[in-house]
Amino acid sequence: EKGGYEHFMLKEIYEQPSAILDTFRGRLLSNEAIIKMVGVEDNMKKFLNANRIIIVACGTSWHAGLVAEYIFEDLARIPVEVEYASEFRYRNPIINENDVVIAISQSGETADTLAAIKLAKSKGAFVFGVCNVVGSSIARETHAGAYTHAGPEIGVASTKAFTTQITVLTLIALRLARAKGTISSSDYRMHLLELELIPEKVKTALESDAYVKTVAAIYKDAKNFLYLGRGYNFPVALEGALKLKEISYIHAEGYPAAEMKHGPIALIDENMPIVVIATKKGHYEKVVSNIQEIKSRSGKIIGIVTVGDEQVKNLADHVIEVPETIESLTPLLTTIPLQLLSYHIALMLGKNVDQPRNLAKAVTVE
Ligand code: F6R
Repeated sequence: EKGGYEHFMLKEIYEQPSAILDTFRGRLLSNEAIIKMVGVEDNMKKFLNANRIIIVACGTSWHAGLVAEYIFEDLARIPVEVEYASEFRYRNPIINENDVVIAISQSGETADTLAAIKLAKSKGAFVFGVCNVVGSSIARETHAGAYTHAGPEIGVASTKAFTTQITVLTLIALRLARAKGTISSSDYRMHLLELELIPEKVKTALESDAYVKTVAAIYKDAKNFLYLGRGYNFPVALEGALKLKEISYIHAEGYPAAEMKHGPIALIDENMPIVVIATKKGHYEKVVSNIQEIKSRSGKIIGIVTVGDEQVKNLADHVIEVPETIESLTPLLTTIPLQLLSYHIALMLGKNVDQPRNLAKAVTVE
């Protein structure tokens, strides 16, 4: 059942090239330059007339929502707010029939997300679900939706659900951008072509596994980790930190790289490993200067870089390469080594990778 892998988590990490392909299969028709998603087409008016999109989710799905915020605003020019479902439902939110709510949930059973949906519906909002489990409570409770088609995710730490959620949300953003005319047809085609290349590129990113394992061996006994990223990769930093916390029980924090100097920089010394996402597309020079600040305080730098990078290589203690892509799609690649890093560290520490303590696959209590 684990398909020859030692753990479900590792199997699911390695399934990502095919899971992402399954997510866009039949939906992305690049020859015709068409994105076909029934749930979106049937409700196009609601999406196009929306004053804003409110995304509600928890945990890793919330991180996917943060990535989507960048994509929707960047491409479709629709204002987006991303909310923890648990906060949204209890703070008397201002919401009405002109709002579109997107609820993201792998299991489709998360109690807080389900309650947030019911609240939004009671205020007249249109609610769209992005779920993995077919026929789940959230899939049934939403007005329309799009499944991720990632296949069953058994490992408690979410991996392929995250990348396939981002894939679905990217397709939706591109479809809306095209309908709104906020993207040129050449830019739109370019995005479709790049998205089609992602499964192969994820495969290439997975080739870093052996090297990531050597990095894991060096830092497995660290008591704290920092993860830094900017723009599209800020949510990836949050997700990397969450992955490490939940399965290795090492304290980790994700931060927007530029926020480091507003506090966390005080933590940096020679015992602090800092994972910095520094791909070529997206504020590269700014991140390089953040790396210089870390280096001058003797922090240990693990850079996630674009293949062929020289500048970060000269500064960092380790660099892990991912293939080049357009900025909006970098999270689908930069996430991969962070999943592998947490997996190897947890394994080396003798933790139960697939069933970490205190955690359940679906949080059905609030
Ligand atoms: C992280 C993780 C949790 C879930 C969260 C939401 O690896 O598994 O943070 O992402 O409980 O779950 P879903 O997506 O099922 O609503």
